[in-house]
Amino acid sequence: MKTLLQVNASLFSDHGQSSQLAARFVQEWQREHGDARVISRDLAREPLPHLSAERFQAFITKPEDRTAEQAAHAGASDALIDELKQADTIVIGLPMYNFGIPSTLKAYFDHVARAGHTFRYTEKGPEGLLKGKRAVIFAARGGLYAGTPADTQTAYVRDFLRFLGIEDVEFVYAEGLAMGEEPKARGLAKAHEAIRTLTVPLAVAA
Ligand SMILES: Cc1cc2nc3c(=O)[nH]c(=O)nc-3n(C[C@H](O)[C@H](O)[C@H](O)COP(=O)(O)O)c2cc1C
Repeated sequence: MKTLLQVNASLFSDHGQSSQLAARFVQEWQREHGDARVISRDLAREPLPHLSAERFQAFITKPEDRTAEQAAHAGASDALIDELKQADTIVIGLPMYNFGIPSTLKAYFDHVARAGHTFRYTEKGPEGLLKGKRAVIFAARGGLYAGTPADTQTAYVRDFLRFLGIEDVEFVYAEGLAMGEEPKARGLAKAHEAIRTLTVPLAVAA
């Protein structure tokens, strides 16, 4: 059975523009994959703490040597990684806040980048362990950044996912959302069109 993991990072939970675009895609995706499963993770409703030395130590301590508190810290991270492993498709609702990714998403990334679980170091450098997955990212921005050096998100998120082994990464942008009604409508219409293209059944696209 196909599984999709949807991670929303908007402060506004389901109401965020990035969450709504992600939901629109997921709805279409579900139509295509009738018996598919969707796992939802809302980082505003259930925020993760910043990575601390204690948490990091818990991650790298052998399971049999962990204290109860360390086991809880590692268990929380294991559960997030398990969701990622189950998913064939990973959808991220990605707002731009203060020129970067939301801190909640950074905390999530810090909880799923685990040596021996999602990546490993080899003689040739790091190797991602989450292979064969597709990621679709819905980036909502007040201004215009795509394709410019001021876009701090695209390369970073792509590099991070590649580090975990996720190579097939697509971005859908909704930009100009804080530039007035018309630019906002244009930005959203462009994103909706991109979603239609992404979800057009393969038989029709061929
Ligand atoms: C706290 C905050 C910071 C923001 N910072 C930026 C920014 O640096 N650049 C930008 O283009 N838009 C910025 N915006 C506008 C958001 O990118 C825009 O509202 C977008 O829709 C956010 O995604 P969301 O609706 O899914 O939360 C900011 C919005 C908020 C609430």
